[in-house]
Amino acid sequence: MKYNFDEIINRYNTNSLKFDFAIQRKRPADVIPLWVADMDFATVDAVKNALVQKANHGVFGYSEPLNDYFSALSKWFKDKHDWDIDTSKVVLACGVVFAIAATIRALTKENDAVLISQPVYYPFEETIRVNNRKLVVNELQNVNGHYEIDFKDFEQKIIDNDVKLFVLCNPHNPVGRVWTKEELEKIADICEKHNVFVISDEIHADFTYEGFKHIPFAKIKQGRDDNFIVCTAPTKTFNLAGLHISNIYIPNDNVRRLYKLEMDKVGYSQSNVMGIVACQAAYEYGDGWLKELKAYLKSNLDFVRDYINENLKDLSLVEPQGTYLLWIDCRNLGLTDRQLHNLINIDAKVWVDDGYVFGAGGSGYIRINIACPKAILLRALNNIKSVL
Ligand SMILES: Cc1ncc(COP(=O)(O)O)c(C=O)c1O
Repeated sequence: MKYNFDEIINRYNTNSLKFDFAIQRKRPADVIPLWVADMDFATVDAVKNALVQKANHGVFGYSEPLNDYFSALSKWFKDKHDWDIDTSKVVLACGVVFAIAATIRALTKENDAVLISQPVYYPFEETIRVNNRKLVVNELQNVNGHYEIDFKDFEQKIIDNDVKLFVLCNPHNPVGRVWTKEELEKIADICEKHNVFVISDEIHADFTYEGFKHIPFAKIKQGRDDNFIVCTAPTKTFNLAGLHISNIYIPNDNVRRLYKLEMDKVGYSQSNVMGIVACQAAYEYGDGWLKELKAYLKSNLDFVRDYINENLKDLSLVEPQGTYLLWIDCRNLGLTDRQLHNLINIDAKVWVDDGYVFGAGGSGYIRINIACPKAILLRALNNIKSVL
């Protein structure tokens, strides 16, 4: 291994959302943070070097990506996901959530129905609500520890509510599913049949475990209608979330025009230059680092699974197919959500994401982020063991 993912890098006093705001967010000062989805690892050396070079240049004027940026992007998606992305249809954004919100605003009106499959990344619901769209929920089904889409309910909810848009999470945070070709085709078919636009959030695309392959929604839709967009970003993959850069694939010309109009309405134009520089370097040189990272994450997954099986018998891991976020079923403890929150976050001092915030079906679960050195995971798990 060239990279040492066991190294503990001090993140305190670095403006880190994950580490520096425990008291403000009502957690103990010495809580172990395993919540928000960024990693405690340093990014690829080539990214750091490119940023240092840009910093040394010293001029930070308005910036846009040059051809090399798009070449790096298309090579990455071809190599990693066998997707010939047409980069002339890519629009940069300052984040995937921004792009989801902009698309919802561009393509739907107030009170229009927007569908999501919960439990799911909670900003989906928030974005729908704050934009005064009607939230429609298709509950994912936990069938013996494996989550599935109830397609009958999915279609019925669309019909009953005249749904205009569906936000897909592929791979799915927090339940860790990497949707299969058959599942994605079913989603595409039903949405096409009922004229439902699909936003496919593929920010976790690069994190799949052995035996599972991420399929871009654009590949499913090839040659069919282009009533969809795909949100991509290098930010989860290379730990660049604070640089706010994402690449949104918008195949339909009119949708792209409406999306850009929405950006104009909020006065957003060029991206942050550091984000552009980092994204290009990551996609050009990040492959080797990512391979090692994924091996480390796999070993963390094995470690947590073993620990739970041996020491935390009332908890049960939902085996992930992708993402570095683990969805843990704590329902056997028989606690209310408030009790579970207090037990883990306050008594055990492990800052996790409470399951219920991902939707009603998340009640009794917690989500933990394993993208950290193993020693931290061990401390966190020991803390949980001691309170159980
Ligand atoms: C599914 C999903 N989408 C989007 C985001 C955030 O993306 P961004 O920071 O680009 O808005 C996250 C972060 O955890 C996520 O899990």
